[in-house]
Formats: sequence, C-alpha cells, structure tokens
Amino acid sequence: MTSVSAQHARVLSGMRPTGRLHLGHYHGVLKNWLELQHEFECFFFVADWHALTTHYEDPTQIPDSIREMVIDWLAAGINPGSATLFVQSRVPEHAELHLLLSMITPVGWLERVPTYKDQQERLKEKDLATYGFLGYPLLQSADILIYKAGRVPVGEDQVAHVELTREIARRFNHIYGREPDFETKAEEAKRKMGKKSAKQFDELRRAYQERGDAEALAVARAMLDGQANLTVADRERLFGFLEGGGRVILPEPVPLLTKASKMPGLDGQKMSKSYGNTIALRDEPAHVEKAMRTMPTDPARVRRTDPGEPEKCPVWQFHLVYSDDGVRDWVQAGCRSAGIGCLDCKRPVIEAVLAELAPMRERVREFTAQPDLVRNVLNEGCERARAVARETMEEVRHAMSLVF
Ligand code: TRP
Ligand code: SF4
Repeated sequence: MTSVSAQHARVLSGMRPTGRLHLGHYHGVLKNWLELQHEFECFFFVADWHALTTHYEDPTQIPDSIREMVIDWLAAGINPGSATLFVQSRVPEHAELHLLLSMITPVGWLERVPTYKDQQERLKEKDLATYGFLGYPLLQSADILIYKAGRVPVGEDQVAHVELTREIARRFNHIYGREPDFETKAEEAKRKMGKKSAKQFDELRRAYQERGDAEALAVARAMLDGQANLTVADRERLFGFLEGGGRVILPEPVPLLTKASKMPGLDGQKMSKSYGNTIALRDEPAHVEKAMRTMPTDPARVRRTDPGEPEKCPVWQFHLVYSDDGVRDWVQAGCRSAGIGCLDCKRPVIEAVLAELAPMRERVREFTAQPDLVRNVLNEGCERARAVARETMEEVRHAMSLVF
C-alpha cells in the first residue's frame, strides 16, 4: 500500500497534442522527463480535452497529433516500462473529478488565473468566452489530484495552475476531510501503531504544532510511512492529525519548475512552431543541414573578411547548447578575427544536431511502422492510469457522500 507521502513521490505531467515535436520540446521538457522516469513513478499523458478548450471548432487534427506526439515521446527515450503513458479522454474519471471539484470552486478563483485573460488576449481570433475555457485550470487540477501526484513538472506559464490545484486540494480536504468523529478516529488509528510509536508520534506532533519543528514533522511522516498495519484511511487521518487539519484525501502537489529551454530557433528567437523556426525531431538530415546552412548569422559579417560578434549571432546560441569549451574558444577567436567563415563555424553544430537526431529518427521510423505497438503502449497506460484514478474516485465519492 502506498501512503500519502509515498504517493507524493508520484510525478505527473501532461502535454497538449501538438503533433510532431521539435528540439525546443526535447531540450526543454523531454530531457527532464527522461531523468524523472528513472527516479520516480511517472505518469505522462496527452491532454486532448485541454486541446479542445481552444480548438473546439476543428478537432479533426487531434487524433493524428496524439499519435505523432506519442511516437516522438517514445523516440526521445520515454520508456513505457518505467513511465505510464496515456490519453486524458481515455480516463473519463478525470471528467468526474473535474465536475465534483467544480462544486467547490469559486468562479473568482478561475477568473483570476493569469492565463485566462492572457490567452483570451493572445488568441483574439477565437471565441474563448466559454465555460470550458474558464475551467481549463480546474480540469488540470483534476488531472493532478486524481493521481495524488506530489510533483508536477511544468514550465513557468503553468505554475499558477499548480498553485490553484493546491488551493483546491486544501479546500476539498477542509470541507470533506472533517469527519464528525475525526479526533476519535485519529486517536484509534494512533493506538494501532503500538504504545511506543504512539507516544513518539505524540511528541513529534507536539514539537511540530507548538514550535513549528519541521524536522519533527518529517520524522513523524517517515514514521507513518513505515507503519505496515495502518489502512490508507487511517494513514490519511494521521497525516492530517499531525498537521492539525482533517483527513488529507487529496494531497497538495508542488510544481517542479522546468528551466526554460536554452534551445534557440533557427532565427535566434525561442524555438516555436508559431515562429516557423523549428527543427523537428523527425526532420530528414538533408533538410536539417540545409536549414542550418542558411540560418542567419551576425549581420555585420557581410563578406568573409568582415569580423563578427558571436553574441549577436543565432549560431552562437547553438554552440552554447552543443559545443565544448574548446570549440567555443575557436568560434570566439575565429569570428572576431574573421579567421573562420560562418559555414566553418556552423559545421560542428550541424554535426552535433544530426548526431542527436539520428537515433530518434530511426526510432520514429520503427514506431511508425508498428502502429499496433504504439496503440498497445497507450492501451496499457490507460488501464494502469485508470486503476489509480478509480481508486481515488472511490475515496472522493465516499468523502462527498455519493454512496447509496
Ligand atoms: N496545461 C498544460 C500545458 O498547456 C498541459 C496539462 C494539462 C498539464 N493537464 C496537466 C500539465 C496536468 C501538468 C499537469 O502545457
Ligand atoms: Fe556567427 Fe559563427 Fe559566423 Fe561568427 S563565425 S557570425 S558566430 S556563424
């Protein structure tokens, strides 16, 4: 049985189905996922309902986008043996939790989420004055809370959504974690640990509640984790009791801030599909080579004999991602003295990008040739995710008296 804090080790993240991924996604998000999948129990999913909140008028591309994006995840090395990969709409429990959470969510909380007004401004051509769009961050809260995920890797723009999730969880636990006989049940649960542990628990609880001793809190939590003879409900009660609240049914997640990708686009701006400056993970080598050979450099270098300044050149940004100190020194000296030409300078980064992409393109080819394999990965992932989601929904329904 997993306890609340072991569940807190669970990692969950989602991506809207954008189709083929590019090097910006790889260096920004996927490399981070690759590390996390070895360290934690990970759930990674395709947020197709979230895509509908902005693309409800033309959803026809979504199925292809899902397949291509998942293939790119696999090609990048996301391993379905260590991480659970699934599609949001295939786990309808998310929708049920979203509905139930909507009952306790003040509309003002959603209107105040910064992305709400920002996106409406940015996507002026779309009518986003919809109920679904207002609920975007609450659906995200349901995605997270249904797995009781403790850590949520997200970019800067999504941190406010994880903050909202924490507030929703707190409100939920406050309203529904207060059983009429909570204290009595917590005392009973405590006794199940045996005299000695119960006494130690009391001391630690006092140290935390009276003096704010964070170490005592950590020791007490670890102690609860180690208790084999507590039920899940009893453990949740004791976690809440320890901190002076009710039962912790939905634990509060923390955001794991993904550092902004240093990966520049071919024009030196951030790599993004909307700027048309991307290198896709599955681009052909000849295409990549051509795109990089023709990418702009420091405009001061009109002729080969004109010196340049790497700081003013998009190619230098690539060297910062791909080259070692030796190559960088060679670029700095050669550029400023006009000792090297721009094509010479690009050669090592072109080679590095091609070398990085080659194994991924090969795997894309393998997975594309085996659609059943990809389907199976998602089917199995959906089943695994659903089993966890169902368990949480049992508890949530019970807490909200939805039992007959
Ligand atoms: N909103 C996220 C994005 O646009 C995607 C997402 C949906 C998500 N649900 C999530 C991310 C839950 C983390 C956790 O990138
Ligand atoms: Fe850019 Fe390299 Fe040319 Fe200098 S030599 S302008 S860094 S491409």
